[in-house]
Amino acid sequence: MSNISGIERETLLQAARRFGTPVYVYNQSKIEEQCLKLHKYFPDVAFHYAVKANANPDVLRIIRKQGMGAEGVSEGELAAALAAGFKKKDLSFTCSNLREEELRAAAASGARVHLDSLNQLEVWGRLKLGKEVSLRLNQGIGAGHHKHVITGGPDSKFGIGLEDIAEAKGIAKKYNLSITGLQQHIGSNALDAGILLKAARVLLKTAAQFEDVTHIDFGGGLGIPYAPSEKELDLKAFGAELKKYIHEFKKSRGKTVEFAMEPGRFLVAEAGTLIVSVTDIKQTTKHTFVGVDSGFNHLLRPALYASYHPIENLSRTRGKRGRFSVAGNVCESGDVFATDREMLAPDIGDVLAICNAGAYGFSMASTYNLRVLPKEILITKDGKLKNISFDSALFAR
Ligand SMILES: Cc1ncc(COP(=O)(O)O)c(C=O)c1O
Repeated sequence: MSNISGIERETLLQAARRFGTPVYVYNQSKIEEQCLKLHKYFPDVAFHYAVKANANPDVLRIIRKQGMGAEGVSEGELAAALAAGFKKKDLSFTCSNLREEELRAAAASGARVHLDSLNQLEVWGRLKLGKEVSLRLNQGIGAGHHKHVITGGPDSKFGIGLEDIAEAKGIAKKYNLSITGLQQHIGSNALDAGILLKAARVLLKTAAQFEDVTHIDFGGGLGIPYAPSEKELDLKAFGAELKKYIHEFKKSRGKTVEFAMEPGRFLVAEAGTLIVSVTDIKQTTKHTFVGVDSGFNHLLRPALYASYHPIENLSRTRGKRGRFSVAGNVCESGDVFATDREMLAPDIGDVLAICNAGAYGFSMASTYNLRVLPKEILITKDGKLKNISFDSALFAR
């Protein structure tokens, strides 16, 4: 949910004035606050930030300095993490449908690679990419805010199914590999700790079948409330329960086992705002469209997942309220950020904040319609505005 304070409103407006709109603005303090929460409630867990959520180099550095590792899904993301100073030992990698040379590059990066399929395991063995391997499992449990982001279960392309464990062990034996790691990621934006805990329980149960396992990764998926009706994930209860599982598992093993999680959204979503300007207002027989100078090329989530993002009018704090459909400038009818949303009646020239846009916002942005990408600005801890825009083509492979 958004609750833009007076100071923040002024800072966001200042960013719009100085750098123009559309512009992404990230709040360093909020990112750090989220990192601290995770360390507090999950003291036994190492975190690998999912770079895909927001790969801005400054954002990566902030997260690294908070004691997080990084998780990448491509050579480019691993390169961005290394450039931001993450150590090789703090990197992990998971990806489906890789070319052989990509798997080679992931192995060479030093990251812990979670193999996504029997074929990847076979290729790993044949290419002699390392004696120890980690498997991404699909245990039939999925969760998420939209079917596109549910990554466990029979409809998901990800992971090695439990029914294929015997075959995976056979491949490992053939190549004299030791399965030392297990990972899963069931989906994104889970607000119910129950489903994440269930998946963790099942993973630990499965791990009992792997005697060499010394590393267990529960994946990401920790959600944040976007809509006013949504409740925060109960991290305290989640952390306390997971701690019990971890302790029991460690006891049953009698050897050192490391535990990890791969949060992306949780660290950056609420820290980011996409600021846009109202460029047009049009009344149809059904809706009042408020046109803005950005679109799904810059924030795809509403068009791709029908996601809710709070929208606030930064230019006014009082006035008439009404229902407005906030639409972008992309030449597609699906380019709508919000439909019939209750908000303060805007005027042309007003500046709007599209909130909770720090995750899967800029990182999914494109130059579709040949429009330039927005700048990225950081509100530093001392309240200054710093231009942290970067050229993602520098890392893309
Ligand atoms: C393997 C893996 N780990 C972690 C994440 C991060 O998910 P989230 O941003 O929901 O925490 C993803 C997201 O798609 C993923 O695919």
